[in-house]
Parts: sequence; C-alpha cells; structure tokens
Amino acid sequence: MLTTSLATLPLDNPVLSASGTFGSGWEGRQFSDLGHVGGLVSKTVTRAPRHGNPPPRIWETPSGMLNSIGLENKGVDYFLAETLPRMKQLAASGRKDGKHGPRVVINIGGESIDDFVHMAERFCQAGVDLLEVNLSCPNVQEGKLLFSTDPRMTERAVAAVKKVANVPVFAKLSPNVTDIVAIAKGAEQGGADGITAINTLIGMAVDWRKRRPILGKVIGGLSGPAIKPVALRMVWQIAAAVRLPIMAVGGVRSADDVLEFVCAGASAVQVGTAMFTDPGLMARIVDDLRQRLGAERTSIRELRGVLHHAAENAAGGCAR
Ligand code: FUM
Repeated sequence: MLTTSLATLPLDNPVLSASGTFGSGWEGRQFSDLGHVGGLVSKTVTRAPRHGNPPPRIWETPSGMLNSIGLENKGVDYFLAETLPRMKQLAASGRKDGKHGPRVVINIGGESIDDFVHMAERFCQAGVDLLEVNLSCPNVQEGKLLFSTDPRMTERAVAAVKKVANVPVFAKLSPNVTDIVAIAKGAEQGGADGITAINTLIGMAVDWRKRRPILGKVIGGLSGPAIKPVALRMVWQIAAAVRLPIMAVGGVRSADDVLEFVCAGASAVQVGTAMFTDPGLMARIVDDLRQRLGAERTSIRELRGVLHHAAENAAGGCAR
C-alpha cells in the first residue's frame, strides 16, 4: 500500500526528509523511530568545508521560513568518516521484517562539474542508495551553484555525474526559473534517473525600523507551506512533460499534503521546514498515510499521477 520506488530503488514508503532540514537524521533520532521512514536526505555536502553565510541566516515568515545558510558543512572527508556511518546505522535499524529501512540519500553540491564528479565518485565508492545533485542552492556566492537555471548546464552536470554513479541520480531543481519544464528536460537529456522539485523560492525580509534587510546576505530561500502551491504546480508540470520519477518537496506538513503531491505525479515526497517545529512529524505522516490509504482502499502506486490520467481521459486518451 505504501511502497514506492525512485527509479531502480524500492522504498518502504514515500516519506523522506528534505535536505538541510534534519541534519543527517542522526540529530533527530530521539524524536521518533526513523527506521519507519522511507529515506533520509543529507544536508548538501561539498568537496571542501564551507563556513556558510553571515548571520542572521534564518527568519520565520507568515507560513514559511527564509534561510540563507550558504551550504555550511564540514566537507566530504569529514562526512564520509563521521556522518555517513551514522546514516547507515539508522538505515540498518529499519531493515527488518522484509523492510528496506530508510534509504540513504546524499545531497551533493559543487562549484564546478569536476566537484560534482569527485563527490559522486566518493559517495558511490562508500556505498549510498541515491545521489541528489543540488543544482539549485540560491544562497551561494554570485549564484555560482545555480546550474539549474540553464537547461544545458543542468544536462552537462547530470551527464557527468551519471558517468561515474552506480546508484540513481536525481537532479534537484530551482523554482526560480521561467520554465521549469525546460530544465527538467535538460536533466532528462543528461540521463537523470529522477527529479527533485523544488528547492526554495528566492525572497527577502526587511526591518524597516533599522532600515536594513534582516538576513545577513540580504536574500534567502523561502520554504514551508507558503510555497506548497508553487511546488505542486511545478511537480504537476514536470510529471506531464518528462517520464522520470519525481521527489516532491515544498511545504509538506501532513499525509494529505503527501497525497496531493502523489496525485500530481510524485513518486515520493520530502518533509522539510515543518520538522523544525515538529521533528517527529515524518514518522507520524507514515502512520497517517497508512490510515488514509487503508480507508480509501488504494495505494501510492495507484494514486501516483492520477491528475494526469484524468486529463488524458478528458483529452480522449492521448498518451503523455
Ligand atoms: O543555503 C543553504 O545551505 C541552502 C541550500 C539549498 O537551498 O539548497
């Protein structure tokens, strides 16, 4: 009922953490049994350590949150030595009674294609379940990491990672573009196994009394329920245009939100900003999903993309 898959990777259920919102999962392990979630997605890992952006780096907004972290992390060497073993330990805790346990998804960031290739090689050698290529962080110097604002750059970065990867490769796309479908097609051309949509929307906050912007780097990425309608629209558009599995992300707080994304075409859904205030939420969403799907006698696989099937039927059964 809850099972799904991301390209060749089967998942126990469609609920994963969103990159950058739950550490590596280890930090949140006391709030729920993470063995029951579909997957854990790491904060973006970069080749070299990064200090991140000047504070303030987080700001709560109506129905959302702005962040300007700047990809702070300790770099790939530290991650491989200290963090990945912990993620694998959490994954192993869920591997019983025929379950796969939470899949280990590593989000990688790079300033160049060479960086992405280096990171992909290191993580594939170390053994992970899936790579999420962050082509879309809005918070780094001069937008250097914004590969996903251009279809050809997206294609090149994905193709380079695919050459060295032995696990499914998902491209995480930016919503800050005119045509998300063109970018998704670029990822598909590059051989991506799937798409993660969407990263944050660029925004800002102002303290007018102090006559200055609130975030240390002025602009940041908006996440949370405020962006859910945008994420739904983009997932729906991508699902109509490319044949790749989609991991949806954007404002998810409940099992109903997950099912909305599944109907729009997502194979799995990441939970992010809501976990800052409710770090046990993911496991509860999995329980609620079981209850919802049981009540309707349906499954994730049956619901996936139903909005498109309805549209096809209305159009006389044209295949997408
Ligand atoms: O600033 C950050 O670390 C955010 C990363 C992202 O949105 O990909």
